[in-house]
Amino acid sequence: MSKQPGFIVHTPAEIAGIRLAAKAAAEVREKLPRLVQAGMSTLAIDQLAGALIAATGGTSAFLGYHGYPAQICISLNDEVVHGIARANRIVNTGDVLSLDIGVNLNGFIGDNATTFIVGGNPSSDIERLLVNTEKALMEGLKQARSGNYIRDISAAIERVARSARLGVVREYVGHGCGISLHEPPEVPNFVCAYRGPRLVPGMVLAVEPMFNLGSHKVYTESDMWTVRTADGSVSAHFEHMVLVTENEPEILTWLKM
Ligand code: MF3
Ligand code: CO
Repeated sequence: MSKQPGFIVHTPAEIAGIRLAAKAAAEVREKLPRLVQAGMSTLAIDQLAGALIAATGGTSAFLGYHGYPAQICISLNDEVVHGIARANRIVNTGDVLSLDIGVNLNGFIGDNATTFIVGGNPSSDIERLLVNTEKALMEGLKQARSGNYIRDISAAIERVARSARLGVVREYVGHGCGISLHEPPEVPNFVCAYRGPRLVPGMVLAVEPMFNLGSHKVYTESDMWTVRTADGSVSAHFEHMVLVTENEPEILTWLKM
């Protein structure tokens, strides 16, 4: 890799490894929601995630990261991100469940997340939240083009949130990714003073909007990890990794069928 001020450009050999790690993370993100059923504990979901990660040949990229104590992050309803699995936390029909999955495969990192409603049948507000958070992610990814700035990604994401009247979480942002889980640059989900570096081929970004049905404000629980909305409103989180190329952005955590 070449470390530039504020960002990292990965070599073709590294990109080959990152591609495989991203694919492994994407496989777990695809399979796990189909195995989740109402009545399961979040610990049981975390254990399933651990087995799916092991089946890829990788290990959890989150377990032990700054002391993080679980395989993946499982965040329910008003939990925004970094929810920790617990034996006594039961998932119910109608819960909005976010699964954030990081895989370390041969020293390369894949990171992606999805949110869905357990048992289907979302209310119109939940539907608006889920559809637009994922739409914002896709709009952001389209801007991951050589010559653009990080802020172009941020602006595309924020535009979708505004038109859907959703709160954009400000304390947590997307990031470079590939050799380490979190690499420079940061990728905010809103426009701010930071324009960020200009994008060049070989940059790998994890883009991850976190939107709330209510206020953008969040706080961290006493477990020091779980982030919740301040007003108790429901939150959603979608994440993909994207490679900046000479041409179209390549979504590394997209499973081509
Ligand atoms: N995918 C998240 C992120 O990109 C979660 C990682 S936090 C961890 O920041 F501590 F659980 F690893
Ligand atoms: Co991430």
